Amino acid sequence: MKTDKHTRSSETPKKQRVRDSRNTDYITVASADAERLRRARARERQRKQRKRRKIILSGIVVCLVLTLVFLIVLCIRKTDEDGTPTRTDANHAASLLELPEGWKWQQMTEADLSQGTLILVNRDHAYDPGLPQTVSVYDKKTRSYFVKDKILSLREDAADALNQWMDSFAAESGRTDVNIVAGWRSYDDQVRLYQNAVNNKGQEYADAYLALPGHSEHHTGLAVDLDTYNIEDGTSGGFDGDGEYAWAVAHAWEYGFIQRYPPQKSDITGINYESWHFRYVGLPHAYIMQTENLCLEEYIDYLRNYSFSGEHLHVTCLGVSYELYFCAGNQVVVPTTGSYTISGNNADGFIVTVYP
Ligand code: DAL
Ligand code: ZN
Repeated sequence: MKTDKHTRSSETPKKQRVRDSRNTDYITVASADAERLRRARARERQRKQRKRRKIILSGIVVCLVLTLVFLIVLCIRKTDEDGTPTRTDANHAASLLELPEGWKWQQMTEADLSQGTLILVNRDHAYDPGLPQTVSVYDKKTRSYFVKDKILSLREDAADALNQWMDSFAAESGRTDVNIVAGWRSYDDQVRLYQNAVNNKGQEYADAYLALPGHSEHHTGLAVDLDTYNIEDGTSGGFDGDGEYAWAVAHAWEYGFIQRYPPQKSDITGINYESWHFRYVGLPHAYIMQTENLCLEEYIDYLRNYSFSGEHLHVTCLGVSYELYFCAGNQVVVPTTGSYTISGNNADGFIVTVYP
């Protein structure tokens, strides 16, 4: 250890003798120097302690930040797993699924969801009537029935099926007096009808028999209202589906039509029994609904049990074998060969119907 001569000489000359451990000589060191040395060492110790504390503190901060980041990432991933899958999630998952040979993906759009014969339109599922994609029933019709006017229109597939249904009914019963009094309906027409019903028969009646504007399946061009026409005096009567007309009701399914608002399903459809209102859904759907006693709301739910990756619904109707399944989201699986139809359900997915 070095001693400072100048400092030592200018300070209190209080001296002591200490033994040098290396040389075994005694050297004299001023006590002030010893104090200074002690202080310097203390300062050094404090400096080192502060440095250590700084390092520990920095370590803790880094650990905290890393833990926080980890927790945030974990939280985000957990929300994804727990939350209802978005359509994008479903599509992504679907596109990763490897398909068996003979099947391929088909990308559908949001607009496609409200296309097809199985679209569900009711209080919970609105439908934008847009511009009619329909044909005049008068222009297409056979001589087996009447139509209210030349303007009344239907979607072409529904109009073709109506012709066949009415032809068969006429051949069976000899009656050609069914009168079609409603088909495609605009939003404004529905407003007028609904308001007339409220004004003339009260709110309760209107809600029991008329869909709110934007929620009528007449907007789709797939629904018809039947009436009867008295050729003698030109008057119209109701269509109760009884007597000779019962055949038309019982056999409607063979032509793809269903009685949309049956008496025992009012609590599900939200509409009272309408003996006159028929909806075209096509085959084999009308057949399945008839045999399983399902209204359209129930049928759309029922089809959700048959996903592409699960069991398919196989049904033979009028000698034709069909295979049906439901695809949630916008990605649909279709066969690479053969015939099929795709219908949106106007809610959350598509029904594929494969036939030979
Ligand atoms: N009458 C049926 C429910 C409609 O208004 O569409
Ligand atoms: Zn109707």
